[in-house]
Amino acid sequence: MRHTPLAMTTTADGASALIAPDGTSFPVVRGVPMFLASDAESLEFETMYQNLSEPWKYSGRAAEMLRHEFVVALAREVAEKPDWVLDLGCSVGQLSAQLGQHFPRIASLDVSATAVLKAKTTCEASSKAEFAFVVASATALPFATESFSLVVASDGLFGWELSETAQQQVLSEITRVLKPGGRAIFTDYLGHKKFPFLLKLIDSSPLQRERTEYLHDRLWYQMESWFHLAQDNALVKAILRNRSLALGLRGIARLFGARASKHIGIVARKRG
Ligand SMILES: C[S@@+](CC[C@H](N)C(=O)[O-])C[C@H]1O[C@@H](n2cnc3c(N)ncnc32)[C@H](O)[C@@H]1O
Repeated sequence: MRHTPLAMTTTADGASALIAPDGTSFPVVRGVPMFLASDAESLEFETMYQNLSEPWKYSGRAAEMLRHEFVVALAREVAEKPDWVLDLGCSVGQLSAQLGQHFPRIASLDVSATAVLKAKTTCEASSKAEFAFVVASATALPFATESFSLVVASDGLFGWELSETAQQQVLSEITRVLKPGGRAIFTDYLGHKKFPFLLKLIDSSPLQRERTEYLHDRLWYQMESWFHLAQDNALVKAILRNRSLALGLRGIARLFGARASKHIGIVARKRG
């Protein structure tokens, strides 16, 4: 079944089910269609979100905040006439909320229902954008063909721990829901030795790679690993949140090129 983002936003809040034309019924919780029941694909992430309020503690880690800023800046640069933007793997909404400061309509999707419901609360409180939230997997997007001008898969294809076949399926789904000429942005935490795996995967997809960027964040992650055992200490928390320090380490790492990056960023375009 396929729904356009518009169709989803008109789903009445409080509706208890969404019925597909083939009769399949999906629960709707607080206006969020749940296309994915708890199964093996989602269970690990759902359990994590049920146990931790912010699994990767992004809002307390300067390198992750810079990464989100990088994605938003890249999105603003490459999105032509942005209409609906799709944020895949939206977690509790940190990146969706920032995208909502610059784009008028955001669809946010994650396999974890707990994460998506939190994202809905956060994003709707912090941004005037129109949001649509969905619980589904990036391997089977519940959206109409050619719905989006921009799709963001930020940590990301490899972070989702999918098989290679499922990764290819995600790329083919992203291509399907993109409008001709639309862009996809990918980031992944891989390290320079594994960057070629992601590049190869994207180059063998129907998408055309346009840009490859390195986030020059390896020194920051190195520093973070030294503090691993003391991460709850107040001084360590302040250091890890320190934006100037993260920018300084990034400036030094930049001198060493791709090998001083843990994250890679890629922009790819749908032909047409
Ligand atoms: C590492 S977090 C990244 C969060 C956010 N995109 C960012 O860049 O900060 C990965 C997120 O992807 C979600 N996820 C895992 N497998 C997925 C899948 N197959 N489809 C969609 N989201 C998935 C997880 O639940 C998690 O919230």
